[in-house]
Amino acid sequence: MNILKLLEDRVIKALNAAGAPEDTPAMVRQSARANFGDYQCNAVMAAAKKMGQKPRDLAQTVVDHLDLDGIADKTEIAGPGFINIYLAPEFLAKGLHSAVSDERIGVEAVAKPQTVIVDYSAPNVAKEMHVGHLRSTIIGDSTARTLEFLGHKVIRQNHLGDWGTQFGMLIAHLEELEQSNQEEAMDMELSDLETFYKAAKKHFDDDEIFAAKARDYVVRLQAGEPHFKKLWKRLVDVTLSHNQEVYERLNVSLTPGDVMGESAYNDSLPVIIKELDSKGLLSEDQGAKVVFLDEFKNKDGDPMGVIVEKSGGGFLYSTTDLAAIRHRVHTLNANRVLYYVDARQGQHFEQVYTIARKAGFATDDVQLEHHAFGMMLGKDGKPFKTRAGTTIKLVDLLNEAEERAARLLASKDSDLSEEQKVNVIKAVAMGSVKYADLSKNRTSDYVFDWDNMLAFEGNTAPYMLYAYTRVQSIFRKAGVSEAGLKGDIAISEPTERELALKLARFSETVEQAAREGMPHIVCGYLYELSGAFMSFYECCPVNKEGVSEALKNSRLQLCSLTARTIKQGLDLLGIETVEQM
Ligand code: ARG
Repeated sequence: MNILKLLEDRVIKALNAAGAPEDTPAMVRQSARANFGDYQCNAVMAAAKKMGQKPRDLAQTVVDHLDLDGIADKTEIAGPGFINIYLAPEFLAKGLHSAVSDERIGVEAVAKPQTVIVDYSAPNVAKEMHVGHLRSTIIGDSTARTLEFLGHKVIRQNHLGDWGTQFGMLIAHLEELEQSNQEEAMDMELSDLETFYKAAKKHFDDDEIFAAKARDYVVRLQAGEPHFKKLWKRLVDVTLSHNQEVYERLNVSLTPGDVMGESAYNDSLPVIIKELDSKGLLSEDQGAKVVFLDEFKNKDGDPMGVIVEKSGGGFLYSTTDLAAIRHRVHTLNANRVLYYVDARQGQHFEQVYTIARKAGFATDDVQLEHHAFGMMLGKDGKPFKTRAGTTIKLVDLLNEAEERAARLLASKDSDLSEEQKVNVIKAVAMGSVKYADLSKNRTSDYVFDWDNMLAFEGNTAPYMLYAYTRVQSIFRKAGVSEAGLKGDIAISEPTERELALKLARFSETVEQAAREGMPHIVCGYLYELSGAFMSFYECCPVNKEGVSEALKNSRLQLCSLTARTIKQGLDLLGIETVEQM
């Protein structure tokens, strides 16, 4: 039951019946304050202006035509022509009652599923994943899960950085380790890719002969010589298995099958250049092949050039992204392509999208969206780094989360078994790191703060996980199974109505989060839902003596839906719940 959509449909019909232009948007919103009703329609003012009518008169005609029978029990016109809508409690009760027996707790799958490509994570080979990749990985994963839950076809693409000139020095270094039979040294360096990368780089910087060899090896790797491909493949495989461990620990749904690295587009890069040329988009500039874009100006106010082939050959990050778009649109048949990449790459994507449209790699009906995110900062407001000023490895961060969660839970009384404790620690640790990130609007930078994220109060994972177990235990205490719930839902108390309204808004919340690729919308909703539940439980007894069977059953349905909604919401965030804490 998507109430917002339902109201939009009804408002559109009323607007049309009142003579408003066909394309007038319904502009229905959740009301910000209770005295504006539950929803309000803001469409009338603009429509009246176009029609040359007085807004309040048009509002009255719209209300006269507005069929909200069985949905609302009151509408009113406010201010210059807002229409406030008050939902009928029976309408909420009926919708929620059918959600109880629905596996999807009332969230309908979309009528027209789209094919959506989600480009996320995308770490680089022979480099350890660091905190910068964390945001892309978990925000992208949450959006992928949310779109999938709504019935869209989601294709995950891990655009691994597995190609480029640096591979010359990396494979030359690997070869030396192999040849000198330094198995042990090699295993050690490869188990810690950061060390391996640094050793190779130092070798390259210090040793002219090695550097020359490295440059020769890139060319031969790019020519596809088997020996060099084999060395390269070894590095890719080691990296992928490191990454997969991190994904699994974080409950991220990426698999090795989702990897479609930069190298996968090698063969199509010359084709991209040819097509750009045949469309007349290519210019020569100091030996390089460049696409000049009027839409972007350089500092002198001239059209900006995007290099797609270096002088003397060699393709760039942009060329690969053009090939990726072409593949996604023409082979994977995408309707939408979402890129979870940090905000600093904004201009890169704007330029690539512009070129892709001009060249027909992306048709006009396909949406290309850069879902940018800000930086993770330390408490000092500077980019999050180790004390020594180096980037923090993701593995170290996750280990620290588990240590801290273990300490936190050890300080609390508990009658859990050792095995349960281990599960709770893991859920709290991974949940906290993820939730702290996902609950912030992704477009801004945020401060990484252990104390905040592990707090049991506020919009945090521990709070949400605890709220879930609490609702569950209230339900368990009643001694009724979910399937055993009987009768209708009746809504009488104000806090009961508030909780019912929140529950009924899950559908539209999920829909909005999927549309905008903004998981913090789900977090904010879950936090409000838990708050509404706590207030409800304070004044609406469930398990107390004197509560009639019918009332108990009605309230238990609200409890059950609350728990299931929290669980489902956390699942969309990729956060696992525990039954007891
Ligand atoms: N590997 C890149 C990085 O670490 C991110 C790639 C993002 N995706 C893309 N299609 N360009 O910065």
